[in-house]
Amino acid sequence: MTQTRPAPDTLRRSDFPAGFTFGIATSAYQIEGATSEDGRGPSIWDTFCREPGRIRDGSSGDVACDHYHRWEADLDLIAALGVNAYRFSVAWPRVQPDGRGPVNAAGLDFYERLTDGLLARGIEPHVTLYHWDLPQPLQDTGGWPNRDTAERFAEYAAAVAGRLGDRVRSYATLNEPWCSSILSYEIGEHAPGLRDRRLALAAAHGLLLGHGLALPELRRQAPRAAAGIVLNLGPQMPASDRPEDVAAARLADGRFNRWFLEPLLRGEYPRDVWEACRADVPEVREGDLALIAAPLDFLGVNYYSRGVLSASGGGVPAGAPVTAMGWEIYPQGLTDLLLRLQADYPGLPPILITENGAAFTDRLEEGQVHDPERVRYLQTHLAALRRALDAGVDVRGYFAWSLMDNFEWAYGYEKRFGLVYVDYPTQTRVLKDSGHWYRQFLR
Ligand code: FCB
Repeated sequence: MTQTRPAPDTLRRSDFPAGFTFGIATSAYQIEGATSEDGRGPSIWDTFCREPGRIRDGSSGDVACDHYHRWEADLDLIAALGVNAYRFSVAWPRVQPDGRGPVNAAGLDFYERLTDGLLARGIEPHVTLYHWDLPQPLQDTGGWPNRDTAERFAEYAAAVAGRLGDRVRSYATLNEPWCSSILSYEIGEHAPGLRDRRLALAAAHGLLLGHGLALPELRRQAPRAAAGIVLNLGPQMPASDRPEDVAAARLADGRFNRWFLEPLLRGEYPRDVWEACRADVPEVREGDLALIAAPLDFLGVNYYSRGVLSASGGGVPAGAPVTAMGWEIYPQGLTDLLLRLQADYPGLPPILITENGAAFTDRLEEGQVHDPERVRYLQTHLAALRRALDAGVDVRGYFAWSLMDNFEWAYGYEKRFGLVYVDYPTQTRVLKDSGHWYRQFLR
């Protein structure tokens, strides 16, 4: 039976369950700036940005949105949107400049001010502990492929949760470990910019192990907070029903989705991908997978697009609508993904959509930014999410990416994902039409 649901453009907050979380997200390196203040140490992104040719516009996160100094006004902006939650990340190099050993109290002070500032405004803080800014000294000793980094991560997680405790409602250990392993160590597009599949798979295992070691620390330090992890997931579909294309899509799904889902939710690596990568698979020690598969309070899902695969590679179907990133706009993929997670993983924890959004070429004209494509993107994805809820998937919240335009990694400041426009020379913030729309939707 099909239920009648409002068209995407008439969808409202009241079409979602009572208590459903609506929020907005950012990450530390992308917005904070102040990279050498108050004892912060260097991260792999500081190093990477200084290497010629790595960042399209030659920029870095040195200033970014200057959020480190403008955080109070930014919190007011978040409050004005009417969201009830804010997802941000803690910069490890502010908390432990060397990635190990003594904690830099001034670094934690910043996140404490932020947390208390959110609570004072009635907004739930959702903390991500690792959004890619590894302390450079830990890269110098091997980075994520070195198991010691996982141990150091657990120590750092304990320090953060020890200070912020249950004031933070929810902790995610890692953001998108596919990006901080495969995209960073094999594809070379993100810091540290390596091209080595063996190291990439070792990094992925190190990240998952770090997650597994951090969980008990979070439970100890913040017993009433929810603990989980955030993955970037998307359906990987064959371009045709030719067996070669179907096989390519299956492998892409294995490498992108299942390589992370299965250790976390089933305690094993997917056998088909393990076989396909035989020469490069990581060392897995006794007990690792049991740690990695410990129960989660939530699974964070970042959804942007799908993949369409043929034997000769991946690509966007001819004529399909795309964002400024060249990513296909495919809202149905969110419904499909959520239904598939529910079908394939019995005992699946509740889901939070921790990121969803799009870059378009925005222009500030007479104090306004008209971004109808972003409004449409958000509406159609919320409608897709609504369809998954109707089918019984346990989704508890949705965070739009992103609060404001920011440092979009290897693209620098060229790609704008914000619901708020940032005029970088003056650091002026201007609510885009999409921001007005989100506020209206939430009212
Ligand atoms: C995700 C990242 C986030 C942002 C968006 C566009 O992969 O988690 O930091 O860059 O993509």
